[in-house]
Amino acid sequence: MMNKKTKKQPTSWEPVEKWYQSIVEDEGHYFHRQIILPGVIKLLGKPSSILDLACGSGVLAQHLPADVEYLGIDISPSFIKAAKQKDNNKLHEYLVADVTNPLKLNKQDFTHAALILAAQNLDQPKIAFQNAAKHLIKGAKFIVVINHPCFRIPRQSSWGVDQTKMIQYRRIDRYLSTMKIPIHAHPSKGDLSPATLSFHYPLSSFVQWLFETGFTVELMEEWCSDKESTGKNAKMENRSRSEIPLFLAIRAIKNT
Ligand SMILES: C[S@@+](CC[C@H](N)C(=O)[O-])C[C@H]1O[C@@H](n2cnc3c(N)ncnc32)[C@H](O)[C@@H]1O
Repeated sequence: MMNKKTKKQPTSWEPVEKWYQSIVEDEGHYFHRQIILPGVIKLLGKPSSILDLACGSGVLAQHLPADVEYLGIDISPSFIKAAKQKDNNKLHEYLVADVTNPLKLNKQDFTHAALILAAQNLDQPKIAFQNAAKHLIKGAKFIVVINHPCFRIPRQSSWGVDQTKMIQYRRIDRYLSTMKIPIHAHPSKGDLSPATLSFHYPLSSFVQWLFETGFTVELMEEWCSDKESTGKNAKMENRSRSEIPLFLAIRAIKNT
C-alpha cells in the first residue's frame, strides 16, 4: 500500500482524451467490443442500478439495457463531456470526480458497481473499492476488470521465442513489486507524446483490498484475445495467445 503522506499522482486521462476517443469511438475499442463488454454484461447479471467508477466516455453505459439506472464518474471533464454528448437516456447521469477521494453521493443503494480497465490507473485503488462498498447494497456485485497483472506488466513483461521448441513464451521480469509506469500515447514521439500513468500491483493486492473493504471474491475469469495470426508463425502465436490471458475479471460481492 502507498504511504498516506505521498503526494497523490495525477492520473486523469484528460491529456489523452482525443486519442482515446479516436480508438474507443462509440462502440468501444476492439477488445471492449469483443471481450470486455460481453464479459462484463454477463458478469453483471440483471442489474437495476450501476455505479461505474472511472467510466471514461461511458462505453459501458452504451451497452446496458435501457431500463438500468446508471451513474458514471470520471476525473476527466473531457471524458464526461463526451459521455454526456452521446447519451440521451434519462436514467443515466455523469459526474466529474476523483474516485480515490470520498464521493459526495447521496445514493447508497446501487445494486452493482464496475471499475473497468481503470484500477491500474489509480494510485490508491483501495479507496475506489471503499467508495464502491459505501454506495452498494448488501449482496451487490462489484465487477473489476484489469489488464492481467500476472502477464501484462508494462515494461516488465514481453514475448520471446524459444527457437528450438518453436514456442512463443511470456517473459516476466518483475511481478511482486508495486510499480508506477508512464505510458506514452504515441511512443514514437517519446517525451513529446501525452502520457498516462499506469500502476502495477500484484494480484494478491487486489484480493486483499477487496477483502479489507468488505467484499468477498465470488469468481475470477481470465480472458484471452480472440485474434488469429496468419503466416509462418501462426501456430505458435495462436497457441500462446490462447494460453496467456490479456484480462482478469473479478466479481466480488458486498458482505454487509
Ligand atoms: C483506460 S480508461 C478506462 C475508461 C473506461 N472505464 C473504459 O473502459 O473505457 C481509464 C480512466 O480512468 C480515469 N481515471 C484515472 N484516475 C482517476 C481517478 N482518480 N478518479 C476517476 N477517474 C480516474 C481516466 O480519466 C480514464 O478515463
